[in-house]
This record gives sequence, C-alpha cells and structure tokens, in this order.
Amino acid sequence: MKVTSNTSEFALITGASNGIGMALAHVMAQRGHNLLLVARSADKLQTLSKNLQAEHGINVHALALDLAVPGAAQTLYDHCHQQGLAIDILVNNAGFGD
Ligand SMILES: NC(=O)c1ccc[n+]([C@@H]2O[C@H](COP(=O)([O-])OP(=O)(O)OC[C@H]3O[C@@H](n4cnc5c(N)ncnc54)[C@H](OP(=O)(O)O)[C@@H]3O)[C@@H](O)[C@H]2O)c1
Repeated sequence: MKVTSNTSEFALITGASNGIGMALAHVMAQRGHNLLLVARSADKLQTLSKNLQAEHGINVHALALDLAVPGAAQTLYDHCHQQGLAIDILVNNAGFGD
C-alpha cells in the first residue's frame, strides 16, 4: 500500500548505504515515505538518494555521519531540527553485517 507522507514527515534509516538498510530504503521509498538516510559513506548515500528521488518522487535527505562518534546523536538531532525534518519512523539498523 502506498502511503501519503506529510511533506515534513520522514523515515530515518541508519546504515542505509548498504545491505538491509539500503533494501529497506528501496521498499519504503516505493511505499511513498520521505527518507533521511544516514551512514558514513557520503558517495553511496548521494547516489542512492538521487536514484530514489528520481524513481519514486519522494523527498530524500542524506547525512554522512559516523554514529559511533561521541555526540553523533546530538548532531543528527540538530540536523533534523535545522532542516525541519519530523521523524515519524526510525529504522535503527546501522551496525556490522555478516
Ligand atoms: N546480515 C545479517 O545476517 C544480520 C543478522 C543479524 C543482525 N544484523 C544487523 O542488521 C544490521 C544491518 O546488517 P547488514 O547485513 O545490512 O550490514 P551491512 O551490509 O554491513 O551494512 C551496515 C550499514 O551500517 C552502516 N554503518 C556501519 N557502521 C556505521 C557507523 N559507525 N555509523 C554510521 N553508519 C554505519 C554502513 O554504512 P557505512 O559503512 O557507509 O557507514 C552500512 O550502511 C546490522 O546492525 C547488523 O548487525 C544483520
């Protein structure tokens, strides 16, 4: 089912540059969610963002951030606040794959 997101509502996916996070980004974009994608690899996030926006007409923000660095959560919170992004779904996925 396709959802109609409020223009300021975003699903935040951590670890979106690869693996499960990237797969979920595709699924959620297909369902019409705006996305905030976070991982360390800026180039991968930029490519994914462009593709998802072009394919699904959603809003995609990308933030290259190492979530293991002290203060990263605050940086992420501040980014959302400054950009006016209301996070209504969190996919807390970043980590080591197998
Ligand atoms: N695959 C499995 O069988 C399996 C099983 C159980 C649990 N899990 C869990 O599911 C999650 C995803 O697994 P996956 O297989 O999709 O892993 P993956 O392919 O290695 O992807 C991991 C993602 O997390 C990001 N990431 C890693 N460290 C980060 C950091 N310090 N800050 C920000 N982003 C970071 C990576 O991006 P960058 O490198 O660009 O930062 C990447 O996008 C992990 O938490 C894993 O522990 C996986």
